[in-house]
Amino acid sequence: MRQTEQTVVIVNCGYPDVQKLARKIRDHHIYTMVMPFTVPTERLLQEKPVGLVFAGSEVSDLAKAELPRLANAGVPAYAAGDVSAFLPGVPAGKLDDVEKILDFCKTTCGCTGAWTLDTFVDDAVREIRELVGNEKVVLGLSGGVDSSVVAALLHKAIGDQLTCVFVNHGLLRKNEAEMVQKLFVGHFKMNLKYVDASDRFLDKLAGVADPEQKRKIIGKEFIEVFAEAARETNATFLGQGTIYPDILESISFDGKPEGVIKSHHNVGGLPPDLKFKLVEPVERLFKDEVRQVGKMLGLPSELLDRHPFPGPSLGVRHVGPIARPTLKMLQEADAIVTEELINAGWYHKTWQTFAIFVPVKTVGIKDGKRSYDNVIAIRSINSVDAVTADVVELPWELLFKMSTRIVKEVEGINRVVYDITGKPPATIEWE
Ligand code: XMP
Repeated sequence: MRQTEQTVVIVNCGYPDVQKLARKIRDHHIYTMVMPFTVPTERLLQEKPVGLVFAGSEVSDLAKAELPRLANAGVPAYAAGDVSAFLPGVPAGKLDDVEKILDFCKTTCGCTGAWTLDTFVDDAVREIRELVGNEKVVLGLSGGVDSSVVAALLHKAIGDQLTCVFVNHGLLRKNEAEMVQKLFVGHFKMNLKYVDASDRFLDKLAGVADPEQKRKIIGKEFIEVFAEAARETNATFLGQGTIYPDILESISFDGKPEGVIKSHHNVGGLPPDLKFKLVEPVERLFKDEVRQVGKMLGLPSELLDRHPFPGPSLGVRHVGPIARPTLKMLQEADAIVTEELINAGWYHKTWQTFAIFVPVKTVGIKDGKRSYDNVIAIRSINSVDAVTADVVELPWELLFKMSTRIVKEVEGINRVVYDITGKPPATIEWE
């Protein structure tokens, strides 16, 4: 989907911070896209760029051969970083000199700084209507930021032609299913197919302790349940909450497979008979831009500013085989952790803070009697990109309050511990 008449393409020549650069320039209302230096010239020109910024310090023979081809495509060019050595005659500067890059965009390329997210919603609505026509769209709604924003955007554009499918796999947080229904059905009046598949998932997971096995079961069942529900909608389009980093990280800047950070798997896994056309209205937006659009569409902050939550949900926060009673303990403990965190004003100061069920029985005293119950661990971390994470030093009083409430209110738990391990060596999730 085309968002502006004035696009500047950043040609990625191996610059690790290329996404940040693209995002920074957008802050100045200049619309940017990122493309690998191996991009075919015709593909580049399809975007009708008003300027090219070659960014990086890749000094391979391939780059040396490819860069002049793009630089001679008839679009004003600028070289940031050591790549300038391959681009004689092209104005050059340092990678971190954003001011100079902005000056190039404005002065040489004539960017007026007219791109804003305010116009995004209207443009996206128009483009969705053109693309979808009278056909039907199905969207998997998880209650996460991306799928929620796409739901609100698609609904604004095509109303009842959209059906959202919400799969309750039984591993949700406390009151999560109710919250999603209240918002999307109660408030937005969307068609929502609520599929309670918790028995199906929990039966399949019974007795399974291996984390990878758990993830596989959850992933496979999810696809099956979603596909069944999607077939019933007779939709020809599948809505997806793909965002720009999903796309950029699935493209190698030099065409080599090692350059791919992760595969863009949103579509992956659906049965071959389900051939959907795709509608991905936020595929050109960065995460914080998606949040801003969500805000404009009236989604509440409790949803937009929620901590990241893993796809396999509480399944990877419940160590050992998942059973209904112990899962309930985790849901209750997690709700207490979140509630106290919010009350203490710490929710937005941490990247993720949550409870983990630890199937280790220890001795304690509860209500004057000996108890022999399980453990809940609390984990609180800060991170920039989830690749590394630091433990948050939550105030002692807050931790103590969480612990006191958990052992008092959650039947089956008599001990609470705090995880003080960073990433690495630990991962953020326990499984
Ligand atoms: P780890 O545990 O790998 O987590 O340090 C890094 C970040 O990714 C989230 N996470 C997942 N997200 N599906 C997801 O969508 C998953 O299977 C998954 N596993 C971990 C985790 O919450 C953290 O933010």
